[in-house]
Amino acid sequence: MDDVKDFGTPKRISDKTVNLTIDGVSVSVPEGTSVMHAASLSGVTVPKLCATDSLEPFGSCRLCLVEIEGRRGYPASCTTPVAEGIKVHTQTPKLADIRRGVMELYISDHPLDCLTCATNGDCELQDMAGAVGLRDVRYGYEGENHLKSVKDTSNPYFTFDPSKCIVCSRCVRACEEVQGTFALTIQGRGFDSKVSAGNKDFKDSECVSCGACVQACPTATLIENTIIEAGVPEHSVTTTCAYCGVGCSFHAEMKGEEVVRMTPNKDGGANHGHSCVKGRFAWGYATHKDRITTPMIRKSIHDPWEKVTWDVAINYAASEIQRIQKKYGRDSVGAISSSRCTNEEVYVVQKLVRAALGNNNVDTCARVCHSPTGYGLKQTLGESAGTQNFDSVMHSDVIMIIGANPTDGHPVFASQMKRRLREGAKLIIVDPRAIDLVNNSPHIKADYHLKLKPGSNVAIVNALAHVIVTEKLMDDSFIKARCEDDAFKSWKDFITKPENSPEAMSAFTGVDAKDVRAAAKIFAKGGNAAIYYGLGVTEHSQGSTMVMGIANLAMLTGNIGREGVGVNPLRGQNNVQGACDMGSFPHEFPGYRHVSDKATLALFEKAWDVKLQNEPGLRIPNMLDVAIDGQFKALYCEGEDIAQSDPNTQHVTHALESMECVIVQDLFLNETAMYAHVFLPGSSFLEKNGTFTNAERRISRVRKVMSPKNGYEDWEITQMLSNALGYKMDYSHASDIMDEIARLTPTFKGVSYKKLDELGSIQWPCNDEHPLGTPTMHIDEFVRGKGKFIITEYVPTSEKVTQKYPLILTTGRILSQYNVGAQTRRTKNVAWHEEDLVEIHPHDAEERGIQSGDWVGIVSRSGETVLRAQITERVQPGVIYTTFHHPESGANVITTDNSDWATNCPEFKVTAVQVNKVTQLSDWQKQYQHFSEEQIEFAGKSKELKIH
Ligand code: SF4
Ligand code: SF4
Ligand code: SF4
Ligand code: FES
Repeated sequence: MDDVKDFGTPKRISDKTVNLTIDGVSVSVPEGTSVMHAASLSGVTVPKLCATDSLEPFGSCRLCLVEIEGRRGYPASCTTPVAEGIKVHTQTPKLADIRRGVMELYISDHPLDCLTCATNGDCELQDMAGAVGLRDVRYGYEGENHLKSVKDTSNPYFTFDPSKCIVCSRCVRACEEVQGTFALTIQGRGFDSKVSAGNKDFKDSECVSCGACVQACPTATLIENTIIEAGVPEHSVTTTCAYCGVGCSFHAEMKGEEVVRMTPNKDGGANHGHSCVKGRFAWGYATHKDRITTPMIRKSIHDPWEKVTWDVAINYAASEIQRIQKKYGRDSVGAISSSRCTNEEVYVVQKLVRAALGNNNVDTCARVCHSPTGYGLKQTLGESAGTQNFDSVMHSDVIMIIGANPTDGHPVFASQMKRRLREGAKLIIVDPRAIDLVNNSPHIKADYHLKLKPGSNVAIVNALAHVIVTEKLMDDSFIKARCEDDAFKSWKDFITKPENSPEAMSAFTGVDAKDVRAAAKIFAKGGNAAIYYGLGVTEHSQGSTMVMGIANLAMLTGNIGREGVGVNPLRGQNNVQGACDMGSFPHEFPGYRHVSDKATLALFEKAWDVKLQNEPGLRIPNMLDVAIDGQFKALYCEGEDIAQSDPNTQHVTHALESMECVIVQDLFLNETAMYAHVFLPGSSFLEKNGTFTNAERRISRVRKVMSPKNGYEDWEITQMLSNALGYKMDYSHASDIMDEIARLTPTFKGVSYKKLDELGSIQWPCNDEHPLGTPTMHIDEFVRGKGKFIITEYVPTSEKVTQKYPLILTTGRILSQYNVGAQTRRTKNVAWHEEDLVEIHPHDAEERGIQSGDWVGIVSRSGETVLRAQITERVQPGVIYTTFHHPESGANVITTDNSDWATNCPEFKVTAVQVNKVTQLSDWQKQYQHFSEEQIEFAGKSKELKIH
């Protein structure tokens, strides 16, 4: 179905142009272009099998031979670069003869079952046989062949049928060049050569199921199981992945209203045709039997749910909100939106709160992940966003990754980063744990792994800056020209203090001062240096301080304002950036403008025709505290599952139980919905129009490929609720909402669906000055004018290890699962990660008599949970690690209420704990099991609830 043109070999970029003729047609192309690519540009298609434009040419199939006047023989057009003045012929009787002979050999060892083959009509081998005019095959099947080779069906999403393999090696090269996993090889020689996943099944091999090999395979050898089951698609719609902040573009390939395949878009600005296992394969949750598609209400969380019409549900929700506001006051209600929602959905939720509820009690899940990024970058650079596009990494000479695990959290970007690292860029990793990029990715090894103790980020960033200043490695001219002088001088006095030296700080970080000094030198003097960071930076009591420390480091070394450098927050969820941009924080209107700013207030009051509040509203933790105190009584929660994803679960559920009306809008009966009184069924990303904004500020279209199973797109549900509350909204399409956003938000002024359709995607700011968007920010000056160095004093967290709680628990993600797992747990991705495990260093395990697979109780000051142990040296002694993708794991039962001083982002990454071998579940888990079984039954659903 993917009818995007394949030029055969990759595009080359050069200032020099070469002129040639191909079949008598003159063509001019950049130097380095292959003859095949040039032919394709001039409209001539040369037959090919082993070449495709996402991979470097290989020259093995000999189908693409051409004749070049004055040259001997028949060079392969895929591996032959153009030369000035050459005259190429692609169609001659001799070439036709050779090509037919080549095809005949391929076909003679290939099953002749085209008519019943799953990819009939979508197979390059079939196309080529037709293109070279092959009608008969002179060789029979009597001799040796591969037709009885056994299929490998171990991967849940695709099948490998070696009987159809033509050993073109495209899969092997895709795994190496595009994905960077090197899981496949061609084993043997000549007739015996075959594709091997390291002599293992695909499922048990190094394969991470990214799908690049399946995408590259020109035959039905590597094929999606959905295509085997449903056949080839009929039409496709381009949309955006709903999982992580990379924001990959996909073609949703359809048969009627059924998705049969998601194919990565070659023109996708963030992914350039690549994908990971989630976006490529894990979309089955959208039609999972657990989905709730009828609205439900109930008086108490101890009652079964009653299925009702949309009218009844919306009117009940509105009347409850009105009753509560009348009884407890205007500020007793609020809403939480989610980074999983589209920009348009988030925008209408904050508008509903501000205009229909009359307060500013709106927050978003970015509170618990990247709110320190927004704050820290705004203070230092003037804009709450990353500074680059992903492609910028291809110009980096030094890459510093702090508190992020790109191969698991941002896999498609990680593949691009790995490509640059294989080309020779230096790598510094600052992380308490040995992520795969440290030394577990083929051909990649970190030059420095600063394996710090959790909670000592600011100590290490200060130590790095101390070395750069005291050893005079800084970029004086950049600082002089681009940064505030007074702020820099004060900061310099602070950072040069001996207590910030790596030697002094090693008491906190546990990192050898020598390594810090060496890493600082490479970062400052190794060429273009870029910083990529994740939640390991933000989810700390000093999250905002660390973000400012990172910005200081970039300014100090002049690494900002051009390609290859910059400060790059790797956003977790698909629309974290967008949710923040859209004004879903209690203190900001869209575009990060404070609610007390008179001009902004006047602008929105006029546009929305309503009086607005100029005081910030409640953040999520405040809403929960005030609910327990009895003054916050109703919550509208769209697409967010605070009962699973927020810290200190008991506190969250106690707060939810204290409210009189909890309205949840979601696909599934999530953990929060178990405490709800109104359930409004949501629509999946396949069922609605809108936009997501990825970690590069790239706005991409989400397009409806099927009708909403619940009847409405999510923004329509919010609109109905607003209208029922008496505040009129009358958008007729998601594009109307974007038009309003553009009218009211300077950085979005030039954005429209029309322009998005034309350009594919746009990186904001997009306005009169930057009508096509802004890939790199702060080029000539910072958004705030001069960059501001801010003093970042290291203050150790109050969460300390003691004799009772001697270990530090830190948390993270895994490739196959996504966040709270509501989506991925309902896909075949569970094949890779059925339960959350706790990683323990062998030393700590031995002291406690724990072995891999044992149940261990993890006890913190907040609570206790039980997980299975995995003994590994990835973690350092004194540190344990777990993921949080399964609700029954209760990872947040043990995390504490500590949070970032500036933004309240929870300190998920540091919890003092003790672990011990146990034989039964924790009390919380037993209660959870009982409560959730009852709630699932109340909703008329059945589910095998699995705890271990
Ligand atoms: S599996 Fe497909 S891509 Fe790989 S060598 Fe065989 S035919 Fe080529
Ligand atoms: S799915 Fe991806 S990782 Fe697995 S073998 Fe294919 S290219 Fe390699
Ligand atoms: S990298 Fe992220 S956006 Fe891309 S396919 Fe994977 S989950 Fe989706
Ligand atoms: S396409 Fe050129 S040798 Fe195969």
